[in-house]
Amino acid sequence: MELLDKLKWRYAAKAMNGKKVPQEKLDRIIEAARLAPTSSGLQPFEIYVIKNQEVKEKIRPVAWNQSVITDCSDLLVFAAWDTYTAERINYMFDLTNKIRGFENEGWENYRQMLLSSYPQKDAEENFNHAAKQAYIAFSQAITAAAFEGVDATPIEGFDPAAVDEILGLREKGLRSVVLLPIGYRDESNDWLVNLVKVRKSTEDLVTVIE
Ligand SMILES: Cc1cc2nc3c(=O)[nH]c(=O)nc-3n(C[C@H](O)[C@H](O)[C@H](O)COP(=O)(O)O)c2cc1C
Repeated sequence: MELLDKLKWRYAAKAMNGKKVPQEKLDRIIEAARLAPTSSGLQPFEIYVIKNQEVKEKIRPVAWNQSVITDCSDLLVFAAWDTYTAERINYMFDLTNKIRGFENEGWENYRQMLLSSYPQKDAEENFNHAAKQAYIAFSQAITAAAFEGVDATPIEGFDPAAVDEILGLREKGLRSVVLLPIGYRDESNDWLVNLVKVRKSTEDLVTVIE
């Protein structure tokens, strides 16, 4: 199947059957998220992989009681940095220097530019920027899941503060942004499975300026 066929195959499954996703497929889905581009390469988020059924059971009631939370194989929680700090910025710049094996003046100037702006900004503004980066990784995970023939239901319908509390995220300087249950569709119980995919036309979406 071509990628576009796989994207047509995927949908936001409303029911999953509890079947486990092979670890190697899950690893590739997470790797796609890890490889996502982010602003200044800061990767200002972490991904929690919830395999534990009791933890999924705790999250379901604060996620609109959506059954995919408990009937998925693995529940991915994308959690963004609560703000940008000098330590977090320096960590990624130092990592870049270490991995590439050299320092570069332009890159160091860019580090100083970020250090003189992000940490001084309002934490909520920084969190919102970090959350956008988490969404890019989230989207790559959704595409990778489709590529693997695995279902993934994007979920914003949850109480982030409650999920933060369950997972102890705030103490780690993180805030939950979006959930992604990974698993397999339950065709016999999903009202959406046979409905035609609805998207606006390319003409309504795209403006070409020649
Ligand atoms: C950020 C985001 C949040 C979403 N939240 C939910 C959700 O909480 N529950 C749900 O059933 N679907 C959720 N969806 C699924 C969308 O409703 C669905 O992707 C959209 O209607 C297009 O349909 P399709 O994905 O099946 O092609 C969400 C999708 C996105 C991208």
